[in-house]
Amino acid sequence: NAMFSWQRSAYHFQPQKNWMNDPNGPLYHKGWYHLFYQYNPYSAIWGNITWGHAVSRDLIHWLYLPLALVPDHWYDIKGVWTGSATILPDAQIIMLYTGETNESVQVQNLAYPANLSDPLLLHWLKYPGNPVMVPPPGIKPDDFRDPTTAWLGPEGTWRLTMGSKFNTTIGISLVYHTTNFRDYELLDGVLHAVPGTGMWECVDFYPVAINGSVALDTSSFGPGIKHVLKASLDNTKVDHYAIGTYAPKTDKWTPDNPEEDVGIGLKVDYGRYYASKTFFDQHKQRRVLWGWINETDTETADLKKGWASLQTIPRTVLYDNKTGTNLLQWPVEEVESLRLNSTMFKEVLVEPGSVVPLDIGTTTQLDILAEFEIEPLISSTTNEIGNCGDGAVDRSTYGPFGLLVIADASLSELTPIYFRPLNASGGTLKTYFCTDETRSSKASNVFKQVYGGKVPVLDDENYNMRVLVDHSIVESFAQGGRTVISSRIYPTEAIYGAARLFLFNNATGVNVRATLKIWELNSAFIRPFPFERDSV
Ligand code: FRU
Repeated sequence: NAMFSWQRSAYHFQPQKNWMNDPNGPLYHKGWYHLFYQYNPYSAIWGNITWGHAVSRDLIHWLYLPLALVPDHWYDIKGVWTGSATILPDAQIIMLYTGETNESVQVQNLAYPANLSDPLLLHWLKYPGNPVMVPPPGIKPDDFRDPTTAWLGPEGTWRLTMGSKFNTTIGISLVYHTTNFRDYELLDGVLHAVPGTGMWECVDFYPVAINGSVALDTSSFGPGIKHVLKASLDNTKVDHYAIGTYAPKTDKWTPDNPEEDVGIGLKVDYGRYYASKTFFDQHKQRRVLWGWINETDTETADLKKGWASLQTIPRTVLYDNKTGTNLLQWPVEEVESLRLNSTMFKEVLVEPGSVVPLDIGTTTQLDILAEFEIEPLISSTTNEIGNCGDGAVDRSTYGPFGLLVIADASLSELTPIYFRPLNASGGTLKTYFCTDETRSSKASNVFKQVYGGKVPVLDDENYNMRVLVDHSIVESFAQGGRTVISSRIYPTEAIYGAARLFLFNNATGVNVRATLKIWELNSAFIRPFPFERDSV
C-alpha cells in the first residue's frame, strides 16, 4: 500500500504483512538466531494468534520461515500465546507456551523441535500429554500465562516462573519445579508479589554479573550475581523491572530498593514498548533483549496499511556497575554493520532558545552518537520539578536540549529527543531523558505522547545519547543505555528526502556544546527464506 509505505521501517524486524505482538522463544541454534512472535496470519489486528518464525545470522538481516506453532489442539485452539525457550545441557530445546483452550482457559504447553539437527528448526512437535500446567486453585483461568525460560536450581531441579495476580490487584510470579518438563510442581509461596500492580504478563527473570562486564547463562547464581525481575503490567501496558537478590533454596527474590520494586520503579523502556524478553546468546556470550513496539494509530489505519507492529533492534543488557541502580541496554553490535557514510560535528554551540540544522543529507535511517556539554549562564535557585515537562517547549534553566529528528525543513513536524536537567536541591541536578511526540505528525487520530524518565548522570560525565532513526521508529539510549525510549511516529511531511535533523536548546540559562558522529544506515534484508532456490 503506497499510501503508507514510508512508515515501513528499513532495518527493524516486522512481518511482511498482518499483525505481530510479543517476541517469543528467542534462541541461538546451529549458526542461526531464531525469533518467534505472536502473529495473526489473517489480519492487521490482534486475533487467531500463531507463532510466526524468522531466522538470522546476525540479528539484523532476517528470513521469514513458515509458521512454527498454530492452534490445532483443544488446549491451544483459541491461540498459541507467549512462551520461552530453554536449552538443556545436552542441547535439547524445550519450548513452553501458553495455550488458550476451547473453553478460554490459559494452560501451559510443551513443544520441541522434531529434528534438532535442522538448523532452521522448521518442524515442531507438541507433547501428547499437554497441557502440562493448568491454573491452580486461587488463580483465575485468564490470569495464568507466559512461562519464562527455565533455570537449573542448586539441587538439579529446573524452575520456571510465570506471571499472575492474587485477588484483583496483587501482581505475582508463581514458581514451578520440574525435572523432566512434563511434570511440574507448584511452590506454595511466590517468587515475588507487588500490591497494586495488577496482572503480570511476560515475566522475565535472569542473572546479571555485578562486575558489569560479562553476561550470564540463565541458570547462574551465587556470589557476584544479582537477579533482574521484569513484568509487563497488563493494566498500564508498561514493562517494569527491578534488580535484586534471588535465594535459590527458597525461590524468593527481594528487590535491592523496595521503593523501586517491580511495577513501581524503573521501566525497561519509557516509550512505546511491551512484552520484552531476553535470552542468553551462547554464541557471543551476551544477554539479548527483544521488545515489541506497538502502533499508536487507529485499527482502521492498520487494516488499511495491512500491517501492525515491529520489534526493537535487539539490545544487549548488562548491570550498570557505575551506578549500581540500573541496567544498561545497548543495540547489538551487529547494527553497526549497516553503517554507511558518517559525518562529524565538533563542539557546535547551541545558544538558549535556538535551533541549529545539521546538514547531512538523508536523515530517515540514522545511527547518531551525541554528547552535550552545558555552560551555565545563570543559576537556578528554585526547586524545579516536572519530569519531562509539557514537552520540548517547556523551558527551564538547564533544559531541555538535544536533537530534533524526523523534522521537515520548516519544523512543522519534529520529534525532540532531549535531556532536561532540573535543579533538585542545594545545587544538585536531577536529569530526565525524554521524547516529545506531540508535534511528530500532522495526522489526526494518532496518539502522541511525551515520554521519559530520570537518568543518572554522574559527576564526571557529560550528557550523551545514542539515537537510532528508522523512518517511523526512533530508539533513544541515554548515558550508555541507562534510560531508553522507543517512539512510534507517523510523519506526513518529514518523510524520505524531506526529513531533516537539528540540534536544539530550549533552556533559558545554559549554552550547549554538542559533539556528534552520525552515520547513515543501510537497509536490512528482511524477506522470505529462499526455499525454492535450494532445490535448483
Ligand atoms: C502480552 C500478551 C501475553 C499473551 C499474548 C497473547 O502482550 O497479552 O500475555 O500471552 O500477549 O497474544
